[in-house]
Amino acid sequence: MAARIRRANREDAAAIARVQVASWRTTYAGLIPKSFLAAMQAEERARQWDLLIEAGKDVFFVAEDERGVFGFISGGPIREALAGYDAELHTIYLLRERQGSGIGRLLVETLVRDLRAGGFRSMVVWVLAQNPAVQFYERLGAIEISRRDVDIGGALLDDRVMGWPDLSLSF
Ligand SMILES: CC(C)(COP(=O)(O)OP(=O)(O)OC[C@H]1O[C@@H](n2cnc3c(N)ncnc32)[C@H](O)[C@@H]1OP(=O)(O)O)[C@@H](O)C(=O)NCCC(=O)NCCS
Repeated sequence: MAARIRRANREDAAAIARVQVASWRTTYAGLIPKSFLAAMQAEERARQWDLLIEAGKDVFFVAEDERGVFGFISGGPIREALAGYDAELHTIYLLRERQGSGIGRLLVETLVRDLRAGGFRSMVVWVLAQNPAVQFYERLGAIEISRRDVDIGGALLDDRVMGWPDLSLSF
């Protein structure tokens, strides 16, 4: 089976959590303290994903192939008000070995199509300034909105909010 993207359901919570924990460990090694990354537990994350999916407020898509889920994206209404923006890309993670072959772009496009069908017009995403994902979002047309410091596991990091003020122009 070639890679495909589909809407996630509660049965995907465990696989989403496994991808999240594995991808955090490779993405944030050297950035977020080792102890924080080591303490992340897929079982606990799975329970959180299950509750979020069940709540039905946000949207979730997974990317999978014959070996199972290797990536996911979630989004929904903006969580913290920002003038001119109504939706938010909450999370997007792919296993390292599946990065760089166009699936991230496809996941974002799928989310945006769904958000636009739901009446949303713009979107933000929070990203650590040192994460190469900044360049990925720029490539997809995002602009920087503002920055702030964030504490993750005792490390003070530069967090950036980027956005697409008009989704109809970027996608
Ligand atoms: C960020 C992420 C979702 C991007 O998905 P991906 O499948 O690797 O990216 P794609 O292959 O779809 O890239 C789309 C475009 O962005 C560009 N791009 C992606 N990463 C880039 C980088 N680090 N620097 C420059 N350009 C980049 C690609 O070249 C591509 O451009 P093109 O369409 O013109 O060829 C994925 O790499 C990932 O899961 N990273 C680790 C987790 C993470 O950081 N998540 C975001 C947290 S905020």
